[in-house]
Amino acid sequence: MLIWITGCTQGLGLALTESLAKRGHTIIGCGRNEIALQRLSEQMPNCLFIRCDVAENESVESFAEEALIAHGTPDMVINNAAIINDPAPLWEIPADEFGHLTAVNINGTANVIRHALPAMIAENSGIVVNISSGWGRSTSPEVAPYCASKWAIEGLTQALAQELPEGLAAIALNPGIINTEMLRRCFPEDEATSYPSPEIWANTAAPFIENLSASDNGKALTAP
Ligand SMILES: NC(=O)c1ccc[n+]([C@@H]2O[C@H](COP(=O)([O-])OP(=O)(O)OC[C@H]3O[C@@H](n4cnc5c(N)ncnc54)[C@H](OP(=O)(O)O)[C@@H]3O)[C@@H](O)[C@H]2O)c1
Repeated sequence: MLIWITGCTQGLGLALTESLAKRGHTIIGCGRNEIALQRLSEQMPNCLFIRCDVAENESVESFAEEALIAHGTPDMVINNAAIINDPAPLWEIPADEFGHLTAVNINGTANVIRHALPAMIAENSGIVVNISSGWGRSTSPEVAPYCASKWAIEGLTQALAQELPEGLAAIALNPGIINTEMLRRCFPEDEATSYPSPEIWANTAAPFIENLSASDNGKALTAP
C-alpha cells in the first residue's frame, strides 16, 4: 500500500513508518524536524519524507501536491501528528498555546483530509485513519485543550464517515498508552516508563492498521 503518515519524525509516527515500511508498504511521511526527515530519507530511499507543518494549509497543500506527483493517490492516510498542552487548569492556559494546539490537532487533520481526499474519491477507494486518544473518549484534569482536540477528532471522523462515498472509510483510532515524548510531558517519568515503547507498540499496531478496510467506516477503534 501507499501510506501517508503525518508526524513521522518521532514517537508513534516514526515507529509506524519503520514498521509499515519493513512490511513492504511505501510511506510518504511529513513532520517539521528536518534532521529526522533527512535521516529517514537516507534509511528508506524508496519512501518520501517531506517537511510540512500540518497546521498550515499551504504547507499541507504543497506536501500533498509533491506526494501525489511522485507516487500517485494514497491507499491510506494516517493523521498522526499532534501536540499536547503543558499540564495546567484550563483557565491558566494562554490563548496562544490553546490556539496552536487546536491548529495542529484539529485544523492539521482537516488540512490533510482537504488535500488528500479528492484524489482518493476519484479512485473510489482509500482509508483515512485519524489518531485519537483515550482522552478523545474520556477526560482528565490539566489536559483540557488536548481532550477538546481529540473529542473533536472523534466528531470530525464520525461526520466525515457519513459524507464519504462507498469504498472509502474514515476511522478514529485510539492508539492506547505508549511511552513517547508526548506521554512524558503529561505523565510522571516513572509512570511513563511502565508503558510500552513505540517500537513494541508498532509490532501489533502496524498489522492491525494495514488490515483496516472500507467496512470499518465510521468506527471508533482502539489499537491492540
Ligand atoms: N503516546 C501516547 O500514549 C498517546 C496516547 C493517545 C494518543 N496519542 C496520539 O498519538 C499520536 C502520536 O503521538 P506521540 O505520542 O507519538 O507524540 P510525539 O512523540 O510527541 O510525536 C508527535 C509527532 O507529531 C509531529 N508534529 C507535531 N506538530 C506537528 C506539526 N505542526 N506539523 C507536522 N508534524 C507535527 C512531530 O514531528 P515534528 O516535531 O517533526 O513536527 C512528531 O513526529 C498523536 O496524535 C497523539 O495525540 C498518543
